[in-house]
Amino acid sequence: MSIIPRHIAVIMDGNGRWAKNRKLPRGIGHRQGVKSAQRIIKSCVDLGVRYLTLYAFSTENWKRPPREIKIIMNLFLKYITASKTELPEHEKVRVRVIGRWHELPYGLPSKIQSIIDDTAKHEGLNLTLAINYGGRKEILDAIGAIIKDSKTINTKNVISEEFLQKYLYAPEIPDPDLLIRTAGEYRISNFLLWQMAYAEIYVTKKLWPDFGKSDLMEAMNDFQNRERRFGSV
Ligand code: IPE
Ligand code: IPE
Ligand code: MG
Repeated sequence: MSIIPRHIAVIMDGNGRWAKNRKLPRGIGHRQGVKSAQRIIKSCVDLGVRYLTLYAFSTENWKRPPREIKIIMNLFLKYITASKTELPEHEKVRVRVIGRWHELPYGLPSKIQSIIDDTAKHEGLNLTLAINYGGRKEILDAIGAIIKDSKTINTKNVISEEFLQKYLYAPEIPDPDLLIRTAGEYRISNFLLWQMAYAEIYVTKKLWPDFGKSDLMEAMNDFQNRERRFGSV
């Protein structure tokens, strides 16, 4: 493959429909979704993608029935605890988490903090999990932090794009080149609003639990044929 997108972001949608099609409870769909995520992480390692960001839970997903939320949180707990040894190339993958993850239940914040710390020096795939993430909340949080700092900095002339960028959840990560959304919906659903400015968007009907390495390669092939102009001619 000639042009590998440096950063792929994925809206992992369709777990519920996958389960419904099989007359199974939605929780089973989410469990399969985790397996699919593990598969795609490994594929990105194999294909030489440097940054992968997975949208796992939005700030709007709290509107779901408590039972479903509980199942999803327990999957995070299990997956994040196990990922220390179960991630492909776990000795190299660097894990980051973006969103208001400090507010998560079931002792998740301390588990998340420890996986972030444990992998901070890893130089393989940069894996970012968006958990309790909202693009609007990210921008609000940045503005809140700027106001807090404004006592010590002169904000008068420094409010540039680069300046605001520094206050985002993971400022060092380059913008996504390719956004993949599974399960056929043509919308962003509050994902990486700031960072998505020039992402190439690829939507597939495949449901997330069915999405595999060949589907990822198809999306990457499609990306190679895009002409990215960034506003130029
Ligand atoms: C995506 O799958 C997973 C989360 C949002 C947590 P969905 O649960 O949204 O699946 P559908 O859209 O109902 O099929
Ligand atoms: C987007 O999927 C959020 C995640 C994949 C975590 P949703 O299923 O929540 O999005 P909508 O409701 O279809 O916009
Ligand atoms: Mg959905």
